[in-house]
Amino acid sequence: MTRLFFASLILILSALNLQAKEGMWIPMLLEQKNLPEMQSMGLKLTAADLYSVNQSSLKDAIVLFGGGCTGEVVSDQGLILTNHHCGFGQIQARSTIEHDYLKDGFWAMSQKEELPNPGLTVSFLISMSDVTNEILKGVTPSMSMKERNDIIRSNASEIRKMATEGNHYEAQVRPFYYGNEYYLMIYEVFTDIRLVGTPPSNIGKFGGDTDNWIWPRHTGDFSIFRIYAGKDNKPAPYSKDNVPFKPRRHLSISLKGVQAGDFTFVYGFPGRTEEYLPFQGVDLAVNIVNPIRIALREIRLSIISSYSEKNDTMRLKYAAKHAGIANGWKKWIGESRGIKRMKGVEIKKEFENKFAQWAGVDEVAQSPFQGLPAAFEEAYTPYKKWKATETWLNESVLSVEAIRLARSFTPLVSLCSAKDSTDLSIKTLTQKYARSIDGFFKNYEMRIDRDILAAMLEMYIIKANGNAEQPTELSELYRTYKGNFKNAAEDLFEKSVFTSKKEISALLENFRRKDIKRIKNDPLYKLAIQLTEYNKRIVYPHIIAFDRKFDSLMPIYMKAQMEMQPDKKFFPDANSTLRISYGKIDGYSPEDGVTCNYYTTLKGIMEKENPEVYDYVVEPKLKSLFFSKDYGRYADASGEMRTCFIATNHTTGGNSGSPVMNGEGQLLGLNFDRCWEGTMSDLMYDPDRCRNISLDIRYCLFIIDKFAGAGHLVDEMTIIE
Ligand code: ARG
Ligand code: ASP
Repeated sequence: MTRLFFASLILILSALNLQAKEGMWIPMLLEQKNLPEMQSMGLKLTAADLYSVNQSSLKDAIVLFGGGCTGEVVSDQGLILTNHHCGFGQIQARSTIEHDYLKDGFWAMSQKEELPNPGLTVSFLISMSDVTNEILKGVTPSMSMKERNDIIRSNASEIRKMATEGNHYEAQVRPFYYGNEYYLMIYEVFTDIRLVGTPPSNIGKFGGDTDNWIWPRHTGDFSIFRIYAGKDNKPAPYSKDNVPFKPRRHLSISLKGVQAGDFTFVYGFPGRTEEYLPFQGVDLAVNIVNPIRIALREIRLSIISSYSEKNDTMRLKYAAKHAGIANGWKKWIGESRGIKRMKGVEIKKEFENKFAQWAGVDEVAQSPFQGLPAAFEEAYTPYKKWKATETWLNESVLSVEAIRLARSFTPLVSLCSAKDSTDLSIKTLTQKYARSIDGFFKNYEMRIDRDILAAMLEMYIIKANGNAEQPTELSELYRTYKGNFKNAAEDLFEKSVFTSKKEISALLENFRRKDIKRIKNDPLYKLAIQLTEYNKRIVYPHIIAFDRKFDSLMPIYMKAQMEMQPDKKFFPDANSTLRISYGKIDGYSPEDGVTCNYYTTLKGIMEKENPEVYDYVVEPKLKSLFFSKDYGRYADASGEMRTCFIATNHTTGGNSGSPVMNGEGQLLGLNFDRCWEGTMSDLMYDPDRCRNISLDIRYCLFIIDKFAGAGHLVDEMTIIE
């Protein structure tokens, strides 16, 4: 009996494991590659239901939100859902101390109240097609990299031109499998996108940076926007007269929820993965680059927090910056740990031993793959030190905001020094700077930046010594200030115009060509230029030399990996193009002795509540809904309010806001994160530990309807009970 039980348990477990599916697949190619497997796992749709250019399909409801997130259309009036952290920049930009939408949330009770967002775009993929042959037309094997790239560039621009002639679309040609294939992507880009609703941060960002990348999770990470179009339903710049966009397709929403083992898929725009690197690449990322970034960001974060925790104005100013810095910092910690734990570098090495044997067999024919392992070693060995130096510089002194601002004035300096430049062109450019200055100082606090400069100088000059090359300018600075970095930062900030809105604005207001001296002699401008020059002169030549070698080896290595494993299905690394990942609802074991359930509930929010800590404050309204269990039709079968769930879909940055759907293509949740133990999935996927984290759509609707009283938005959606 027991033996039988264990035997079947093992069977079930291994079956579940088999269903953990690595990969981000090209929607257009699912039919051949993945459909049978997806259907056997629970997909009820055909390939054309998922992706078609001839009829409306699910792809018509998926958007690239801004530059780096995903969203989905959920009503026939252009309503879209994405994550709170994807709309964060816009929500912050619309917020003031009087109308603090970050803190209090925002709900448009009618379309008139929806808020425009200059600069925000939403793009639909209209079609994609394989243009490999057209792109490689004229390319021959004996060509140099440069000749090859020139031909590819000119072919691509011709293809793009043809694709956009006589229509309002935008076109891109992107390499896949490191240039072994090329695809043309045609997009329709909308530019009038309005904010419709967002929960307060203590719901939308509940748990803040502490819970970020962590499971179990209780974040209500969503925000709502609407696409507006001209009267002809085509993209149009913002205008009062624009109307809600009528989409080709919108998603229906399932209130049925998820159970362990259920099939799910994620449709979205994953940004970047590097799954096919040689072992040296993984080693460099997790053992050299990540530790530098982690150490430096830790310091920047603690300085920002020391100011913003005590002061609401500073919290508002630095909210998005802090979240951005913290997000990378924590992800890299998880990534390095994850690779170590799965012995990722060793696994890759082992694979390369097998590869060397396989490539070496064909000795007579002199396989083109034979020299690859040695060539990678030769390329990576000198590169390590330079990559470390670049990382040190960019993540330390060159991360100082005033230094970045100063550096952005280089074009003005060049223009003023050019003999043939006109006064008018200088005036136009200074006006442009004057406008951007407002944006810069709206979210700037001089003291934070100054403390960061002091700390970064100390880190670079003292800690990086020996691990990275040192620019002589920094050693001089050290001598001038006798090693007192605080004095150095104070003095540089005091003497620079770039740390004061008043001074820089005054300088720009009546700017004349000769005033350029002030900028050229500005101590922060000088430092910015010295370091940038150092990068350009000393560091980049090595980086570029490596990139060239890498770009010439990787296409061959990619092709070789595919030839060596003819039965393996290869997905192309993520490159911000539309993909489908699929998997199963499944808990996991983050460490020995610990098992995590696949879902969380509102009860967990109450358990995490801490009125003292901003990220864990629970709104009185949410509490009273919890105590009265007033969940309406959004509760699960046992009457609980589920908040988030995890599954084995392979996702990455850019997948945030992506719809997580069931076998019928109905919306179950919004993808927003991954478990910390699985963040190495950008380099190597571990089916035991890689999980994507999603917001249960029922919690999202509950917040809109019951918490915010914006049920009119739910009425607009198609709900399947
Ligand atoms: N980790 C998620 C992603 O990479 C969410 C980031 C935003 N949240 C935060 N607390 N910083 O984008
Ligand atoms: N949070 C990420 C995003 O913003 C998703 C991830 O990295 O898993 O796209």
